[in-house]
Amino acid sequence: MYKFQETLDIINRRIEELVFTEKPKSLFDPITYILDLGGKRVRPALSLMAYNLYKSNFEEVLPAAIAIEVYHNFTLLHDDLMDKADMRRGKDTVHIKWDDNTAILSGDAMLIESYKELAKVDKKVLPEVLNLFTQTTLEVCCGQQYDMEFEKRIDVSVDEYIEMIRLKTAVLLACSLKEGAIIAGASDKDAQYLYDFGINIGLAFQLMDDLLDVYGNPETFGKKIGGDILCNKKTFLSINVLLSDKKEELLSWFDKGRENPQEKIQAVRSIYNGLNLKEISEKLIHEYYRKGIECLDKVGVEDSRKVELKALAESLLYRQS
Ligand code: IPE
Ligand code: IPE
Ligand code: MG
Ligand code: MG
Ligand code: MG
Repeated sequence: MYKFQETLDIINRRIEELVFTEKPKSLFDPITYILDLGGKRVRPALSLMAYNLYKSNFEEVLPAAIAIEVYHNFTLLHDDLMDKADMRRGKDTVHIKWDDNTAILSGDAMLIESYKELAKVDKKVLPEVLNLFTQTTLEVCCGQQYDMEFEKRIDVSVDEYIEMIRLKTAVLLACSLKEGAIIAGASDKDAQYLYDFGINIGLAFQLMDDLLDVYGNPETFGKKIGGDILCNKKTFLSINVLLSDKKEELLSWFDKGRENPQEKIQAVRSIYNGLNLKEISEKLIHEYYRKGIECLDKVGVEDSRKVELKALAESLLYRQS
């Protein structure tokens, strides 16, 4: 079985081979820029590792894996614009380095490039893979729209939040795994268990991202700490405050803070601390991880073949970036 690091080497080699040298340069340079900044490459690794439960001829699965990583990077260009984020992977975001229109259009081009990659998938499984990918990418749009709408609301429930992060984040991890399974010829049952595993670790993944946004180390996280607080994002943390007797205090911060962002971040963080929300959130993350592992356990291959996938899922619980 391939380890996470070994799949990463294969993926990175393939991404390095992608060339975006067409004209206009100003449309394609940002694509090279964001892909060169790297990132964890979790999604394509999940595709390769799910495939590797059954087979090891990675050439078969690489187009689908690369398509998902290019697609994921596209979502980041638009997401950073929507979230007014100026740092990603420790560097300027595309809309800061270039401008808003570039982030929109280079993002659009990346979405199309991702379909170009996907079209290389074996014709026998392409319809099923294409269907899943298209359904997933549309769901991500729905999740992102909810995320935006929730910024303006103060009555978002925990269930609504979980559904929003399922759509914006978890389905893509689930899709990565399921595509790997489909391409390897896994049974429908196994493909579905892997999908459900992905949903659960995806929910844990976004909960952790929201936690790191408040408590992470800026050096390793690569994004500015406190961005979610400044946007009044509805996260598991902020929603729980709104359900507590600290509601009014948080509401008063929603209206201010643009003039002194650090003051707002510190104040909101200390409300979270007072309610032990970091610990409560970590518990929920572990709960989703456990549910995910239960799904993985049901996949019909020998346990020894699942070790690397389990190790990757577990490492995501302790990630710093
Ligand atoms: C960022 O995804 C967007 C989220 C769904 C939280 P990653 O945390 O996988 O970002 P990179 O690709 O490693 O930079
Ligand atoms: C990410 O949510 C979801 C997508 C990019 C689709 P976030 O907005 O939390 O991701 P980061 O924190 O900017 O990476
Ligand atoms: Mg964002
Ligand atoms: Mg966002
Ligand atoms: Mg985030």
